[in-house]
Amino acid sequence: MKVLSVVGARPQFVKLAPVAEALAEAGVEHVIVHTGQHYDAGLSDVFFADLRIPPPDVNLAIGSGSHGAQTGAMLAQIEPVLLAADPDWVLVYGDTNSTLAGTLAAVKVHLRVAHLEAGLRSFNRRMPEEHNRVLTDHAADLLLAPTTVAMAHLADEGLAARSVLVGDVMADVCLRVRDKVLGEGLASVAGLAPDGYLVATIHRAENTDDPARLADIVEALAGMPVPVLLLAHPRLRARCAAFGIELSRGAIRIADPLPYPEMVAAVVGSVGVVTDSGGLQKEAFLLGRPCTTLRTETEWVETLEDSWNLLLPGLGGLAEVAARDMTGVGQAQPYGSGQAARAVARVLAG
Ligand code: UD1
Repeated sequence: MKVLSVVGARPQFVKLAPVAEALAEAGVEHVIVHTGQHYDAGLSDVFFADLRIPPPDVNLAIGSGSHGAQTGAMLAQIEPVLLAADPDWVLVYGDTNSTLAGTLAAVKVHLRVAHLEAGLRSFNRRMPEEHNRVLTDHAADLLLAPTTVAMAHLADEGLAARSVLVGDVMADVCLRVRDKVLGEGLASVAGLAPDGYLVATIHRAENTDDPARLADIVEALAGMPVPVLLLAHPRLRARCAAFGIELSRGAIRIADPLPYPEMVAAVVGSVGVVTDSGGLQKEAFLLGRPCTTLRTETEWVETLEDSWNLLLPGLGGLAEVAARDMTGVGQAQPYGSGQAARAVARVLAG
């Protein structure tokens, strides 16, 4: 059997890591196509190296662009690669423009598509990720869902017959890397003492593209009572430069995005996370740190249980809640026990 994975952006490389390993273990031929949506070494190459992912067989080097231009360029260039490889399954991941382009290219040439991380919904039709995931779910042949909530969303949309609950592959990789990082002993990150800082990331269009909104977020982070390790996505830096917003001030300690093991170590060593990233909300939960999410909704609703994750789009009270004490607060295991990628390989082979 042959599986062809289409990936392109940072969170997809993280999801690819355990899947590539499980497919290799199962003796499945695996072709990796990188669209080139993310091309900075710190957002791409370093993940392949650290997470021991085989290098991509094909890199389309599409790069950045408006949604239409970027997605369209991918669509045109993925098609001949699919025709040449002729896989049994095209596997697409998550909700980026690379996900949608891979899906459309595959269904147009009558190849079977499996969507990993199917069924997530924010119900916010302004988000590009929401367009991507809804369209992908409705076009795909096999929907690999991470949670029972995702399964319910798929059933609500008439997609139950194509859906399988496999668990969350991000839990596989996060828990494995956590154990390795803890085994090696936590180093201080960016000179910050463990248990004395917050980790923050901001990159979503709804937070970065409106100058007043972005200025309010940076102001709130600068005013936090403990240092804030702000891991700056290129989009955040670019928008702040364009709007004349100074990032390095007050509590903020600005740094580049971290490789995955360093990111896990930074969260484990922190007193909490402030973010608008989907993946980081869940990583904070899995690593037992409180998360405050600067959005009006989350796809990962399980993290909201017992206030492990708080939605705080208005920013009010951020200084009081970001490092809230969660000692003694238990957690369910909604994301599986770290065996989801093996389930993915089994279902694809079945
Ligand atoms: C994309 C995904 C988002 C995901 C995020 C993870 C879509 C619609 N969005 O957002 O769901 O959470 O990846 O990081 O697919 N840039 C660089 N170097 C790079 C890549 C991007 O400098 O290697 C800059 C460019 O200025 C670019 C901007 O970042 O225009 C945005 O990149 P893009 O790929 O369009 O989306 P992300 O914001 O990264």
